[in-house]
Amino acid sequence: MKIAIVGTGYVGLVTGTCLSDLGNHVVCIDKDRAKISMLEAGRIPIYEPGLAGLVAKNVREGRLAFSVDLPRSIDGADLIFIAVGTPQGKSGGADLSGVWAVGRQVAESLRAPATIVIKSTVPVGTNAELTRQMSAITPVPFDVASNPEFLKEGAAIDDFFKPDRVVVGARRPEVAERLLELYRPILTHERPFLAMAPESAEMTKYVANCLLASKISFINEMANLCTGYGAHIDDVRRGIGYDCRIGFQFLAPGAGYGGSCFPKDVRALIHMAKMVGIPCQMIEAVDSVNEYQKEVLPRMILNHFGGSIRGMRIAVWGLAFKPETDDIRESPALVLIEELLQAGAFVRVTDPQAMGHVREIFGSRLVYCESPYSALESADALAIVTDWDMYRAPNFQLMRDLMRRRIIFDGRNCLNEAAALQAGFQYQGIGRLTPGSSRPRTRANILEHVPPDPLTESFDSA
Ligand code: UDX
Repeated sequence: MKIAIVGTGYVGLVTGTCLSDLGNHVVCIDKDRAKISMLEAGRIPIYEPGLAGLVAKNVREGRLAFSVDLPRSIDGADLIFIAVGTPQGKSGGADLSGVWAVGRQVAESLRAPATIVIKSTVPVGTNAELTRQMSAITPVPFDVASNPEFLKEGAAIDDFFKPDRVVVGARRPEVAERLLELYRPILTHERPFLAMAPESAEMTKYVANCLLASKISFINEMANLCTGYGAHIDDVRRGIGYDCRIGFQFLAPGAGYGGSCFPKDVRALIHMAKMVGIPCQMIEAVDSVNEYQKEVLPRMILNHFGGSIRGMRIAVWGLAFKPETDDIRESPALVLIEELLQAGAFVRVTDPQAMGHVREIFGSRLVYCESPYSALESADALAIVTDWDMYRAPNFQLMRDLMRRRIIFDGRNCLNEAAALQAGFQYQGIGRLTPGSSRPRTRANILEHVPPDPLTESFDSA
């Protein structure tokens, strides 16, 4: 098929590249000339594992191109995807000005019937409103389908080729069939194609993200309670996770969720609920619990040092909102750093991908360290905010030698706490070992009868 993708941000670029890899001819369009020139020169504006290689391959093989010329690029396209950003607007709802602008431009340029596919995350009713706005501009017949995106940053390529499901909202069966054809190569019995009304497809995206965010806020609140009562969240998670109605997935406690989706989508749903006057107390709580959670790590550090960290050197490992990305949008690390600076600490930060973006915000207020170990030089404490794999099994001996005081605040519960304690560190995680609590030792002969711990797996996939 001939496909045009309008908006070459994270979703647009990944989707366009993967669709071209399936054999389609794709043009990725963006009004940002600098971005398009960069892509034409073979440089990728974002960090996403595997993306650069896939872009290069499909450009070389003549299936993928980039352009700033929307009217020319959509001419003759079977499908026109809209994948522009829908950031949080002033009211808390999604700012749809990008979607409307693209719709207007597409309608003005349309010369033959086409299917427009909304990929951007948009409030329920956007499909209908876009149809209305475009119909007022063009006499050419067109359809608007909704095809929400469930890609995870850091695993986006794999998620595209192996989606849990593909959701499509369409008013006419012919339109759903066209999209079924597009996605057929990646569908299996376990990876179904689900067609529904556009309103349901739009709602599906918000319900999915808000439920996932709810799981995180729920387990974070429970972890905080564990801390208050001397229970251990890892054991509690084991205790609940074997109940197959609960499971182990997406229940890793931490410093709070961040990123470009959960915070914005949760607030957008709250706004949508307000617009129709339907109470949405649970989702409001998900948001406020997450705001509270971002403060847990800084508070833990301050409490440990009796309320004052003035003049102390604090190392921060991890700045991205999660591993395998350079994205720092709504990252809990930003809240922690600001609080540490406000409290008069000297902050040394490190991250394998995200340091450049943090430098743009904090400039010379921080010391930027290429290696996690150089961040620890004479440090009074280490705080871990992103669970990059490279931080999971550090050289504790080297850390001991570098640090002035041996205390670790693990905001992602990513270290082996027993190993940290054995190496002579004080250790605090989220709902993990606290000064008043301990885990019972299990005798070796009993351990032999314990089945493998699925927690390890779920941490990796969370
Ligand atoms: C999310 C959805 O997973 C994806 O389906 C949707 O398309 C976009 O939003 P993403 O923002 O890339 O994807 O990140 P995700 O892996 O879901 O993590 C979001 C945040 O939640 C991160 O800050 C992460 O650290 C945190 N998280 C995740 C937890 O704190 N605990 C968990 O158990 C899982």
